[in-house]
Amino acid sequence: MFKVVDVRTEYQVHPLGIDVSHPRLSWRLDSDQSNVLQRQYEVEVYEDRSFTKPVWMSGPVVSDQSVHVVYQGEALRPRHRYFVRVRAWDQRGDASDWTIPTYFETGMGEPESWHAQWITADRPETMDPVSPLLRKTFVLTEIPETARIYATGLGLYELYLNGERIGDQLFTPGWTSYHHRLQYQTYDVSGLLRTGKNVLGAVLGNGWYRGELVSPGHRALWGKQRALLLEGYGGDAGGTWAPFVLSDGTWLTHPGPILQSEIYDGETYDARTEIADWLTPTMDSTDWVAVETLEYDKGTLVAQENLPTRVTQTIGPIAVVKTPEGDTVLDFRQNLTGWVQFAVNAPRGTEVRLEHAEVLDHAGNFYTENLRAARQRVTYITRGEGTEHFVPHFTYQGFRYVRVAGFPDPIDPGAFMAQVIHTDLEATVSFACSNPMVNQLQKNLVWSQRGNFLEVPTDCPQRNERLGWTGDAQVFIGTAGYNMNVAPFFTKWLKDLAADQLPSGSVPHVVPHVLDDTSYGSAAWADAAVICPWTLYLHYGDRRILATQYPSMRAWVEYMRTQGPRSDMFSTGFHFGDWLGLDAAPGSYVGATAIDLIANAYYAYSTGILAKAAGVLGLDEDEATYTALHREIVAAFRSEYITSTGRLAVPTQTAHVLTLWFDLAAPDHQERIVHDLVGLIEAQKGHLTTGFVGTPYLLHALSAFGATTTAYQLLLQTTYPSWLYPITQGATTIWEHWDGLKPDGSFWNPDMNSFNHYAYGAVGDWLYQVVAGIRVTEDSPGFKAFVVQPTPGPGLDWVTMRYQSLYGSIGVTWRLEEQHFHLEVDVPANTEATVIFPHPTFSEFTTNVEIDGLRDGIFGSQIPVGSGHYEFSYTVR
Ligand code: BGC
Repeated sequence: MFKVVDVRTEYQVHPLGIDVSHPRLSWRLDSDQSNVLQRQYEVEVYEDRSFTKPVWMSGPVVSDQSVHVVYQGEALRPRHRYFVRVRAWDQRGDASDWTIPTYFETGMGEPESWHAQWITADRPETMDPVSPLLRKTFVLTEIPETARIYATGLGLYELYLNGERIGDQLFTPGWTSYHHRLQYQTYDVSGLLRTGKNVLGAVLGNGWYRGELVSPGHRALWGKQRALLLEGYGGDAGGTWAPFVLSDGTWLTHPGPILQSEIYDGETYDARTEIADWLTPTMDSTDWVAVETLEYDKGTLVAQENLPTRVTQTIGPIAVVKTPEGDTVLDFRQNLTGWVQFAVNAPRGTEVRLEHAEVLDHAGNFYTENLRAARQRVTYITRGEGTEHFVPHFTYQGFRYVRVAGFPDPIDPGAFMAQVIHTDLEATVSFACSNPMVNQLQKNLVWSQRGNFLEVPTDCPQRNERLGWTGDAQVFIGTAGYNMNVAPFFTKWLKDLAADQLPSGSVPHVVPHVLDDTSYGSAAWADAAVICPWTLYLHYGDRRILATQYPSMRAWVEYMRTQGPRSDMFSTGFHFGDWLGLDAAPGSYVGATAIDLIANAYYAYSTGILAKAAGVLGLDEDEATYTALHREIVAAFRSEYITSTGRLAVPTQTAHVLTLWFDLAAPDHQERIVHDLVGLIEAQKGHLTTGFVGTPYLLHALSAFGATTTAYQLLLQTTYPSWLYPITQGATTIWEHWDGLKPDGSFWNPDMNSFNHYAYGAVGDWLYQVVAGIRVTEDSPGFKAFVVQPTPGPGLDWVTMRYQSLYGSIGVTWRLEEQHFHLEVDVPANTEATVIFPHPTFSEFTTNVEIDGLRDGIFGSQIPVGSGHYEFSYTVR
């Protein structure tokens, strides 16, 4: 059996509305044989489903490439479905069948192809908070074979056709740097049209565009008028498309029942003002008025590249708690991001209220202080006509607990359901080990990713922040890329980063940029511009991301080079430093590590990455320039911070971590530096003091330089401060502070105390790459060839992990019982792995496969393998 399966276009199965001139096709090989490599492939793309009109026939191509094969056929037409089939041959000469046809569909193409008009119900001077309803009826004499709606909004929009919600995507059009890039969505509405009169409805909300962000009163950062732009097209079998509806001045509007809706504050909905029949053709429209048309640049329109944000899970409450203060609180057991759907049966005009919080305080009372100015409150006023169901629209909350008020007693927990909301990325990891607390830690870091990958990588989902903090994204992206396929998510966000970058090359602290004009250019935050594209390249072998982002990456390095008096040092400007490091001076958020050391370390790190990226892209001159610059920066770093005997001038854990992990010390000094780092940890009785900058690399630096035992001690430490301390306190997500909730039951300062902040979850990268040992290599990015190098350590008996790469599932399971080590490895077709055993010497080696030379000890403790399932056992000597 040899098959080609899972054909994708731009990472997606059957994408609609892509505007990429040369989309990339990827597939997986499925075989019951081992050592399978693709020797040759053939791709065909047709403009019809009967495969008669080809637009690209690759012919047989001798190549092992099965990921990101670039379409090289005729120019693609807008709004057209293309049919794809692939077949392949393995190196034994076995041929697959053609795949069952799959397709991708192009979008609106050039912005000039939009003919609709922007329409609004808002007047800029009033800033009316009520969400307007927009409505249009149109008559069809015949239902088109297939139908699409292309739509976007200023603010957020929801669409309905003939009473049905169109699609399940939430928070459309998503969050981008709106003045530069505004996404539109494509919907297949083929099943929703009728002959005769059709009704299209839209509801508009403030969202990020017009709502409040950052601080109270700071609103309408992009514009004051919510608006809709929409085109509906019907197509026939021959691929001819004709518009059936456009947004224009003939649409009508009326205030809707959403009285206010804000990302931070929640929503107020008065069901008494609903217009029950507004989505039916028979509605009396006498008190509706015509919308206004709006001039707004269509040149910024881009097709959505990210996956949709939607409800991905529902969770019922596990308990109804009566707090000492007398509140009725629902406990959903899991700290999450989303909202609560509920049913209520109460007399007309009853005001029911839901407030959301992450924790209860020491006394068991509902605690909202850490939400700062975010109200997180949903108010619903009943119609009083039997059981009413409600789901919010343009707001989301970070919560585990919900305080309910106004509901008829007794509260029925079955009437409430938490809906988990995030960008619906494909989950790609499973991990378990012999320590249940580590398993909980790994669950928590996935939950914090779910809670914060909502349109953009946010710092937290609950307080009045929820912003695309670059530093947080940068430290977490390695972990994120194992947990989920994050390529589409970051492809989009990095374009916004580049769009918001200053002409000087400086990078905003948050993307989309919503802070003041000085909020740019911090080391370790702005370096997201370089580190994120490189990490995506490594995880997915995606050269296009690297090529697209290269100017942005280079601009940030050039910015650093041209600050201050010396090009080999970056020691000017504002920096967050080792944010929240525990060695901070009292009352400060900034850890003790010298800020200039961090800035110079990152300057070296980013410049080194840029040089490698230039190499990958064949930019020889840049590669030489930045390789030389990197050398100079490292030399300057050594002369500034490392004595001639290898002592570091800045005696903090984070300084040692960065120096080791960014390879900044001379090789003969590394041993002393790791020794000193271990000493600094021992001085804290086996605890860390690192903040946002040092923590992500702490365990990597230790295990890479021979201090695996200390790394394991830190991982398994349960007393404060440690990764497992929050687990002892019942954490279900990663906390912002090591002591968000202190051992005495009190909280960290409410000013900055998120219980859902993924930064310290960056330890996932170490669990996956080192403990389980599934490691990507720079020589063969995207896991085409990878390393399996498990690293057992004191306190763990076994680990099992699976990672769904673009080539298929990679699996590692190891178990160490007494002196007996057992390892199982799964290598997907069309990839190769190097298995490196953790022990240099062993005896009684057994394996399930014949590998030439293995028994003769030719490979030592390292074996190259092709695809297949492997089992190895030995006794450690
Ligand atoms: C955010 C962080 C962010 C930091 C900058 C905070 O308010 O929540 O996660 O990186 O500011 O130092």
